[in-house]
Amino acid sequence: MSLKGKRVIVVGGTSGIGLSTAKAFLEEGAQVVIASRSSAKLSEAKQTLGGNVETYELDFRSEENAASLFKKVGEFDHLVITAGEGAMGDFRELPVDQAQTAFNSKFWGQYMTVKAALPYLNKEGSISLTSGVYGKRPAKGASTLAAINSALEGLMRGLAVDLAPIRVNVVSPGIVDTPVYAGMPEEHRKSMFNAIASQLPVGRVAQPEDIAEAYVYLAKNGFTTGTVILIEGGALLS
Ligand SMILES: NC(=O)c1ccc[n+]([C@@H]2O[C@H](COP(=O)([O-])OP(=O)(O)OC[C@H]3O[C@@H](n4cnc5c(N)ncnc54)[C@H](OP(=O)(O)O)[C@@H]3O)[C@@H](O)[C@H]2O)c1
Repeated sequence: MSLKGKRVIVVGGTSGIGLSTAKAFLEEGAQVVIASRSSAKLSEAKQTLGGNVETYELDFRSEENAASLFKKVGEFDHLVITAGEGAMGDFRELPVDQAQTAFNSKFWGQYMTVKAALPYLNKEGSISLTSGVYGKRPAKGASTLAAINSALEGLMRGLAVDLAPIRVNVVSPGIVDTPVYAGMPEEHRKSMFNAIASQLPVGRVAQPEDIAEAYVYLAKNGFTTGTVILIEGGALLS
């Protein structure tokens, strides 16, 4: 199914996996709309992606914000959500409110965005959510993320049934070199990536482009629904 001229919204499209995904859809000839909280990130992304991209400020943790975004955007064909913030920490140490904050972002943000988008989404279109490999194979300290990612994958299976014929899928990335790790000291980040890469069959961590391809595939392939695409460099085998 061609994406030429199709209207695609990437919530979280200003950074990392979302930014690469917006670029990949543009390369397919789609009309791309990106949304995130920061106006600075939106203008930087618009510069990177070129003038054809529409940009909107959105904090997807608010149902009202999401509703008003989709009212402004109007009808469209494919929804991709890559926005979301997690929480890492040993279960015994991580305060419950930090786990709840992460759920409010990564789980409830995606949930509310889908709900708000539905009146405007083409019935022949698709929804792609984002989980993460810790849903299947948690590292130490990833119990909260494991729960969020598993909840998203369960939600997706329910939505694929409830919202049919709209197709609903999840992309589950392994470790990807994105600005989400920008807060770590350079040396620490490098040694973490090297340690992870050395355990993976592919011998490297992912680049955002590796993951972006999956969202394009899910929008294009009219026979795929209710599926998790796991792109983790073989992490489940290591
Ligand atoms: N990188 C990895 O290793 C990895 C691994 C597995 C899964 N994932 C998942 O992949 C997704 C993308 O991660 P990434 O590494 O690409 O992160 P990133 O580079 O930090 O990008 C996150 C994007 O989401 C937006 N965002 C965050 N909170 C938002 C909110 N409340 N409302 C609207 N937009 C919001 C950010 O923009 P603003 O700040 O402007 O809002 C940004 O555009 C996340 O769900 C993450 O959990 C990542």
